[in-house]
Amino acid sequence: MNFLNIDDLTREQLDEVLTRAVDLKERHARGKTAEAMDGKSLGMIFEKPSTRTRVSFETGATQLGGHAVFLGPDDIHLGHGEPVKDTARALSRYVDVIMARVFDHEDVVELGEYAEVPVVNGLTDDAHPCQTLADLLTIRERFDGFDARVAWIGDGNNVCQSFVLGAALVGLDLVVATPEEYDVDDEVLERAAELGEPPETTTDPEEAVDGADIIYTDVWVSMGEESERAEKLETFSQGGFQITEAWLDDRLLMHCLPAHRGEEVTDAVMESDNAIVWDQAENRLHAQKGLLTYLL
Ligand code: CP
Ligand code: NVA
Repeated sequence: MNFLNIDDLTREQLDEVLTRAVDLKERHARGKTAEAMDGKSLGMIFEKPSTRTRVSFETGATQLGGHAVFLGPDDIHLGHGEPVKDTARALSRYVDVIMARVFDHEDVVELGEYAEVPVVNGLTDDAHPCQTLADLLTIRERFDGFDARVAWIGDGNNVCQSFVLGAALVGLDLVVATPEEYDVDDEVLERAAELGEPPETTTDPEEAVDGADIIYTDVWVSMGEESERAEKLETFSQGGFQITEAWLDDRLLMHCLPAHRGEEVTDAVMESDNAIVWDQAENRLHAQKGLLTYLL
């Protein structure tokens, strides 16, 4: 099976992946190794930069006894004339799993169609399901389940859209505050309604923060949107979307990272004890190890 978005997993499968993640995290803390990827390789295609996704998948494969191959934008023929489907078929003859971070979501869909091994979405312009896996693990650890209210404040982007689906899948109480022109795609809201409760939506960040246990934000300008930077910065800052200490109280702060301090969040908020962003980053490793063992 492929993991192109979080709702490729049923609620039961998601619980299974998270249970494996917790087990692997505990084993790792006790210095125990795992052998699930013994003799196996993970191919990692990156069209965009990455710190967490690259390092967590690469070290994760090593910790599972396997091997990861980094394939950057200038390392392979993809993007230089070789079609996605041919890349998928060739890589399938070498590696046991393909992880891809690309611009166009349709490219991971095509990889998934033509690959003979599982394909994992490591972020597209539309979705970031590996982030959602780690986020759900982080929330479950903090709240001993999913009985929490989350306010997403910012862009209705890839990270937000996968989180919306993940929240619906597990029954998290979610409100999404975005400027009107940067809201979540209708199809995502419709899919969330099929999975469970769709999020509340608003353009008023202050209203969204009220009653929330967790504030979640992400950059205002995602990779690939650099030409929209000035316009987006103006819209978000004028709309009052920056997370400041005034909103924090005892609320937790989540951010998928990298953070742009002074834009979507202040330095003080990032440095506060309320920020659980490093737990989220760490949980990328454990959640993805859970996913890899499940897919294999
Ligand atoms: N959150 C996340 O995916 O980070 P990277 O871009 O560093 O991989
Ligand atoms: N929304 C951000 C997430 C980075 C992990 C981006 O796509 O650039």
